[in-house]
Amino acid sequence: MICPQKNCSLCPRLAEFREQNKIKFPTYYNAPVPSFGDINAKLLVVGMAPGLNGANQTGRPFTNDYAGDILYPALKKFGLAKGDYQKKADDGFELINSRITNAVRCVPPQNKVIAEETNNCRQFLLSEINSMPNLKIILTLGTVAHNTLLSALGYKKSQFPFAHGKKHFLDKHNLLLFNSYHTSRYNINTGVLTNEMFQQVIASIKEEL
Ligand code: URA
Repeated sequence: MICPQKNCSLCPRLAEFREQNKIKFPTYYNAPVPSFGDINAKLLVVGMAPGLNGANQTGRPFTNDYAGDILYPALKKFGLAKGDYQKKADDGFELINSRITNAVRCVPPQNKVIAEETNNCRQFLLSEINSMPNLKIILTLGTVAHNTLLSALGYKKSQFPFAHGKKHFLDKHNLLLFNSYHTSRYNINTGVLTNEMFQQVIASIKEEL
């Protein structure tokens, strides 16, 4: 299964938060957010988890999240997306040869996931990867996505330490793995990541595709 069921209860903390949000924000999506983009794509971008008022509201990864304001224009700039990104799942914005998913599919309280939740959810990341017949490149945004991806594929963290801009070769899977700092508001506001730094990573990926 590439996406948890809408009422998934593998993570009690996240299931409880979901029930609270259904009451507090009844118009929101409030369910595990499915991946976005073509299953036949060569590129898979892995984020951390939906934001409360972003992907958890709209039901599409990074959509109406600050992090999407950095991610989506960069993909479009390098020909990996088309249309007008309008922060809504029905804005007609389309990914080209790329797909976006999250290490954890449900919104976590305070935007922080715990180890048990990445462990529970990584089976979906693995089946996502196994369902992409043309997959060549994975981009992990931040260390949560990076470490979850490595454990999903059976590698040790020490084999492929996270470093912004780094390109790793996952020998057993014949896949390239790129790292970027997460496009979060915090990273942008603190200068850890700039638009230019992120676009440089996407440019390097584009060259490999
Ligand atoms: N941040 C993420 O990591 N994923 C989303 O879907 C939204 C924000």
